[in-house]
Amino acid sequence: MTLEVRPVEELSEFTDGVLAIGQYFGMVANEERMQRFADQLPFERMHGAWSDGTVVGGAGAFEFNLTVPGGDLRTAGATVVGVLPTHRRRGVLRALMRAQLDDAHERGEPLAALWASEETIYGRFGYGLASFCGEVSVPHEHNSFAQPFEPQGTLRLIESDEALEAIPPVFERIRLDWPGMFSRSRLWWENREIADPEERRDGAGPKRWVALERDGSLEGYAVYRHKPGFEAGTTNAELRVLEALGTTPEALRDLWAYLLAIDWIATVKSSLLPPDHALFMLLATPRRARYRMGDGLWVRLLDVGAALSGRSYQGDDPIVFDVSDDFCPWNEGRWKLEGGRAERSKEEPDLRLPVQSLGSAFLGGVSFAALRRAGRLAELKEGAIARATRSSAGTAIPGAPRSSEVPIRVRPATQAMMTLIGFRFDPWRRGRRRQSRHRRRM
Ligand SMILES: CC(C)(COP(=O)(O)OP(=O)(O)OC[C@H]1O[C@@H](n2cnc3c(N)ncnc32)[C@H](O)[C@@H]1OP(=O)(O)O)[C@@H](O)C(=O)NCCC(=O)NCCS
Repeated sequence: MTLEVRPVEELSEFTDGVLAIGQYFGMVANEERMQRFADQLPFERMHGAWSDGTVVGGAGAFEFNLTVPGGDLRTAGATVVGVLPTHRRRGVLRALMRAQLDDAHERGEPLAALWASEETIYGRFGYGLASFCGEVSVPHEHNSFAQPFEPQGTLRLIESDEALEAIPPVFERIRLDWPGMFSRSRLWWENREIADPEERRDGAGPKRWVALERDGSLEGYAVYRHKPGFEAGTTNAELRVLEALGTTPEALRDLWAYLLAIDWIATVKSSLLPPDHALFMLLATPRRARYRMGDGLWVRLLDVGAALSGRSYQGDDPIVFDVSDDFCPWNEGRWKLEGGRAERSKEEPDLRLPVQSLGSAFLGGVSFAALRRAGRLAELKEGAIARATRSSAGTAIPGAPRSSEVPIRVRPATQAMMTLIGFRFDPWRRGRRRQSRHRRRM
């Protein structure tokens, strides 16, 4: 099979590239929707793979800034990755990943990141599991909080046009404090957060935006949908919380108290919550909430030196890493991290690890000690893990503190798009993940 991989050059090629994954979800290409998507994903960031003149695979990369401890870094957000079933397991994905990661590296993006549809796919391309998150489901009768409190703010339902103006600045403040969150452009807000087409509702009602204000300023917000239902004379309705964010702990608490108390709801559901989310400490009976945790964000260091130098550290213990990286060999070798900067080094290494493990530890969500326990790194000098931990400790557990949804009918594109930033499959409709028969390489 001959294979040509290059960026798409026009909307028809872009559409074919997206359809490579879209067809798995019954996607029907629609020019207007594709154009809207292309507005967010420029042609030059969408690679296609051609075999005998036909597009048989595609892979896109959004341009984001990812929050890291102490700042944020340019990041290639992998999305719409797919290969036609007629051409699977012949190296098309590998060729696409090669082109995509080389391109991002040439653009000077120190990181790549994604949400994976299957955990087994991306480790071989150097991605490390950097955060955990999951879906929560809280029955209405178990919505009490562990401690009494006086609500501090005022809640007000707002329309989407007001939300579009008022919410993004609050989101930006919050996301910069939370490693693992991504920047959202104005277009992203318009097309992805505010837009609410029928096909994305998955049987539920429209988005409801609620603003939490205190002393005249916006301190948090939530966006949710009602999924009404009635069975055996009583409600079995769901409240689907898509996102609930507060600038202060009190704001977050008040928002969740509001959401959990809404009448006529049997269950409040949300997803992509990290295991240290405040909700679990707020609830009086957290064991009554069902929580299914899984992998969250996957991070790939494209430029080890720039990435390690681009975040902050709590301590200043020098540490020398010996990094292996089959897929991006320019990263291989010894890197000394000292004074917040990483440079090439000839010194004896303290830790030996694959680039995947560095990606796992990068946001602070997976400790070096945990990686060691899982056999994902070697401690070459006594005390090296403790020193590395002192340096990088103290960061928040990364995660996307939001929920997400995937439309039934738009599943094709969106589910692929979800590969990044908070758009995921609807966890309640997905059922069990297929157990992969493939061996994982990392
Ligand atoms: C997953 C998918 C992109 C793989 O494409 P492909 O062209 O068959 O992959 P390749 O032939 O390039 O395989 C590269 C390697 O990944 C492995 N691999 C491929 N798909 C895999 C999977 N689903 N699980 C585990 N390993 C997988 C291959 O075995 C191969 O391993 P090797 O390096 O040991 O040889 C393709 O099957 C697909 O489009 N699936 C449905 C959509 C999807 O899940 N997309 C990913 C969105 S996050």
